[in-house]
Amino acid sequence: MRFSLSLLSLLTVSLASPIGKLFARDEASTTASLDAATSTDSSASVAYGNPFALFKPKVFIISMFYLERDPWLEELDMVYNITIPGLSPVYPEIHCVANYSICQVTTGEAEINAAATITALTLSPLFDLTETYFMVAGIAGISPKMGTIGSATFARFAVQVGLAYEVDARQMPANWTTGYFPFGTTYSDQYPENIYGTEVFELNVNLRDHALYLAQQVELNNGTEANAEFRALYPYAPANELPKAIAGDTATSDVYWFGSLLAESFENYITLVTNGTAVYCSTQQEDNATLEAMVRAAKHGLVDFSRIVVLRTASDFDRPPPIYENDTTYFFNDAYQGGISASLKNLVIAGLPFVEDVINNWDHLYATNYFTPANYIGDFFGTLGGTPDFGTDSDHSA
Ligand SMILES: *[C@@H]1O[C@H](CO)[C@@H](O)[C@H](O)[C@H]1NC(C)=O
Ligand SMILES: *[C@@H]1O[C@H](CO)[C@@H](O)[C@H](O)[C@H]1NC(C)=O
Ligand SMILES: *[C@@H]1O[C@H](CO)[C@@H](O)[C@H](O)[C@H]1NC(C)=O
Ligand SMILES: *[C@@H]1O[C@H](CO)[C@@H](O)[C@H](O)[C@H]1NC(C)=O
Ligand SMILES: *[C@@H]1O[C@H](CO)[C@@H](O)[C@H](O)[C@H]1NC(C)=O
Ligand SMILES: *[C@@H]1O[C@H](CO)[C@@H](O)[C@H](O)[C@H]1NC(C)=O
Ligand SMILES: *[C@@H]1O[C@H](CO)[C@@H](O)[C@H](O)[C@H]1NC(C)=O
Repeated sequence: MRFSLSLLSLLTVSLASPIGKLFARDEASTTASLDAATSTDSSASVAYGNPFALFKPKVFIISMFYLERDPWLEELDMVYNITIPGLSPVYPEIHCVANYSICQVTTGEAEINAAATITALTLSPLFDLTETYFMVAGIAGISPKMGTIGSATFARFAVQVGLAYEVDARQMPANWTTGYFPFGTTYSDQYPENIYGTEVFELNVNLRDHALYLAQQVELNNGTEANAEFRALYPYAPANELPKAIAGDTATSDVYWFGSLLAESFENYITLVTNGTAVYCSTQQEDNATLEAMVRAAKHGLVDFSRIVVLRTASDFDRPPPIYENDTTYFFNDAYQGGISASLKNLVIAGLPFVEDVINNWDHLYATNYFTPANYIGDFFGTLGGTPDFGTDSDHSA
């Protein structure tokens, strides 16, 4: 079987400066043949490379919406806008600094947008991402047991908590604590019988710890007086303290939940599905989807899964302080937490040291195997090799 593919007809590059002209290519001359593919009459596969890549960034910042993107565009002089197929219609452009060493992409919010955008990016023939470090940098909800408004959290595990059965809590049996229960089970707190594969992603702890260390050397923004007053409503630490950079795992769901009961139910689920290794800290709507796309790309050598950091800074609490415990929707809709400003400032304050470190210490740290992971990395299925330190030998894929 033999066929050819016109690659560059898929690309659009819109560059703001004349330097862009250096990269202009003649579409007609660029076809790639699949001769080298490992093919038989009935199956074809190709080592999908990126022979036409123009850009090989050292760091890629992944934002989810404009409020997370803008502080980076302000901080770093991103002079190039690059359009590739498959990005969000709301965020069609990748932004890069003048020498293309640092780039930024905005996925659009929630799991579908994150998966589609990162898939498009990792498959783009314009980018060689094989040695790139990625930093997901977004805002998040925070468990008051783990942090507070403005906290900067660096994850080892990202756990997708929305993959479950759900019955409205008004119709659940009286002795249940939550309407959610894992696939293939009959009530909550049972280990799931059916695994989709995106439930748990584990990241490089050595790299995470280094990014965290760098963030701990800088002073975070403490937020406003109103943030301090809201924190003080919690009668315990670290909720009622100033924000810090911390290690903490992150929960993904398209549904934006709040309140102590749902928070506790997802807390339990995360513990269950990671064999007690992950600790629920922050909440967001994308990270599992981003990481699933990364696993698929890493499987074919397009990205290095050991070079991903997930930073989430806290904009609001996931559950109320005791005085609003009986009025959870008032807490969510009306009580003023005001944490967005501190969380956005701390994205750059806590994330920039890592970005700069990658650039400044590329040759002797980041281009080498200095941060080789000592822990398992990847998904539930061991897609990237190794044996997950969560899950069971008999997990059924569904
Ligand atoms: C590049 O994108 C940014 C952010 O969307 C926008 O503000 C800027 O005007 C764009 N620049 C060009 C040259 O299109
Ligand atoms: C490339 O740009 C980055 C960010 O502006 C800068 O820190 C770095 O020194 C530049 N590298 C080179 C080789 O010019
Ligand atoms: C999201 O990914 C994390 C690990 O990366 C996993 O533990 C979690 O179960 C996933 N959540 C869902 C809803 O898939
Ligand atoms: C709830 O009660 C039912 C009926 O008594 C019992 O079969 C079930 O095991 C209980 N479930 C839990 C989670 O305790
Ligand atoms: C935050 O508050 C702490 C404790 O008062 C202080 O040491 C630190 O300088 C403050 N950070 C900033 C950025 O103002
Ligand atoms: C919330 O309601 C429960 C049950 O009515 C009651 O026991 C508890 O004291 C209330 N808590 C607050 C803070 O009002
Ligand atoms: C995780 O927990 C499950 C259920 O308790 C158990 O069957 C499995 O062996 C554990 N996996 C690991 C890697 O410890």
